[in-house]
Order: sequence, then C-alpha cells, then structure tokens
Amino acid sequence: MAPQYNGAMNLLSTASTERESKLSDPNVLLSFDRVTLGYGDFVVLADLSVQIKAGEVVAVMGGSGSGKTTLMRAATGQLPPQVGVVSVFGQSLIGLGGAGLQSLRQRMGVLFQHGALFTDLNVFENVAFPLREHTTLSEAALTNKVLETLDAVGLKAAAHLKLSAISGGMARRVALARAVVREPELVFYDEPFAGLDPISMGVTARLIRRLSDRLGCASVLITHDVAESFAIADTVYLVGQGALKAHGSPATLGKSTDPYVRQFLDGAPDGPVAFDYPVTPDFERWAERKGVGR
Ligand SMILES: Nc1ncnc2c1ncn2[C@@H]1O[C@H](COP(=O)(O)OP(=O)(O)O)[C@@H](O)[C@H]1O
Ligand SMILES: [Mg+2]
Repeated sequence: MAPQYNGAMNLLSTASTERESKLSDPNVLLSFDRVTLGYGDFVVLADLSVQIKAGEVVAVMGGSGSGKTTLMRAATGQLPPQVGVVSVFGQSLIGLGGAGLQSLRQRMGVLFQHGALFTDLNVFENVAFPLREHTTLSEAALTNKVLETLDAVGLKAAAHLKLSAISGGMARRVALARAVVREPELVFYDEPFAGLDPISMGVTARLIRRLSDRLGCASVLITHDVAESFAIADTVYLVGQGALKAHGSPATLGKSTDPYVRQFLDGAPDGPVAFDYPVTPDFERWAERKGVGR
C-alpha cells in the first residue's frame, strides 16, 4: 500500500517565491527542497537540496549506508520526508495519495539495487513484463517495442535466451532495458555497476548515458564507483556524514581540495569518512534492553 503524505510534518520555509520559480521551470523533473530524510527518529540525510533537469545525468555518490537508496525512496514517494518538499515533474508529493503517486510513478523507471530479473522468463519476457503489466499495447506493438529496446542495449539476438544462459554483464543490460522500456521521463539506477567486471562496468555506464540521451530523460545514477560515474555524469552530488558534502561537475569536483571529497575520490582509508556505523536511537534502545554500553 502506498504511504499517504502528511503535510503537517513538513515545515514550509519562507523562500516560497524562490521555490515557485524553480518549480515553474518545466525542465526541472525532480527537486528536493531542504529535505531531511530518515527512518523513525533516525536522521539519514539532513537539509538536502537537489535539482535535476531533463536531459541530465546526475550521479548521487556516497559510501555504503550514506543514504543513497533512501534518497531514491523519497523521490519515488515510498518514503515521505521528515522535513522539506520533494517535487516530481513540477508537482509536490505532499498530500498525494496512492492514485496520485501511482500516476507519477508511471512516468519513472527504476533499476533497483539487487534488482532481480525473473529467472523463469526469457530475456524478451523480462523486458516485456512492465509493458504487459502497465499498458494495453497490442502483441505486435509490444514485440516491436521490446526488440527495439533490446537492440538499444545490444541484446536483440539474445531475446530468446533463458536467463541462466547469459552472463552477469548481459543480465544487467537486460535490467537496464526493462527500466527504460516504457520510455520514462525520470530514471533511477541504484548501484548499476555492483558486481560487474571492469569491462561490463564501462559498457553499462556508456549505455546509461546513451539511453538517457536517446530518451531525453533525466537520469539519477546512484553509485560509489567514481571512474564510471565521472565519465558520464553532468553533475555529481556527494553525500556523507548525514548531509550533502559537495556537488558540481566531475571536472570541478575532481579538482576539489576538500578533505572529505578527496578521501572519497581517492579511496583513502584514513580521513574524515567515519569507519564506525553511527549510533542510532534504535541502537540505544536495544543496548539499554540488552544492558550493554554504547
Ligand atoms: N527501512 C529502514 N529502516 C531503518 N533504517 C534504514 C532502513 N533502510 C536503510 N536504513 C538505514 O539508513 C541508512 C542509509 O541507508 P541506505 O539509504 O540504504 O544507504 P546506501 O544506499 O547509501 O548504502 C543506513 O544507516 C541504513 O542502515
Ligand atoms: Mg543503497
């Protein structure tokens, strides 16, 4: 069941004219306006402002547990923000019920982290699945659309194969095809490079850029892989330590002397990035019950 947004929880700031002018820009497909995200009383990311326009590939980067998937959940309306306003296609998600969210989600595509394909379906049927579920296309039109999309990821001639007959890199391309087959205006790729060999990673990155350019959509690439995302992103947002640490073009961020940015980009073990998992209120309650210190 889709969550109902609670408008009362959102503190509307006074900068409403600024926000209205941003929202009235029809090219802004996703906007986070001073958003705080978390679970219960645990804050994952505070005071986050992000804007993504049509045609852009934006990389959201950060270490494991920094809140990247949480950010995507907020953008797709699965997780209402604790504070602030999330808008998609110029429409605030506050107060939107299940039907309203559903109609916005129709225009989004998602490649889920660990997003499983259906192992009992062949390549063609995996990509056809969203069309069969959500559209009333004729079988001929559906077949055309699926084959055209498989062609775009170089797998038209693999349409008939069982999933057990394809490699991990090919499977990821099938998942990309499935995410974009309905021609979404906004696409999220959550860890699309995870578990791939270096060549497949490069292929996947280039495909994301190419699919985005072809569809003219906005793409949000969620990853911790620096080389791949810097190669294809227009803008990079780096999150960590509960906040947005830096954002800018790959060229600008690459020249940054900020210690946090440098540690992340250079993959250095020592620096400001915390090694310890943060103490949460949930942990404190658990520790209290268990009778252990924190
Ligand atoms: N459903 C949930 N309930 C409580 N805490 C969660 C939930 N999902 C994620 N978290 C916590 O939120 C933080 C951010 O998680 P996540 O967004 O998955 O990070 P990332 O995708 O960057 O690895 C982590 O500390 C994680 O343990
Ligand atoms: Mg994640």
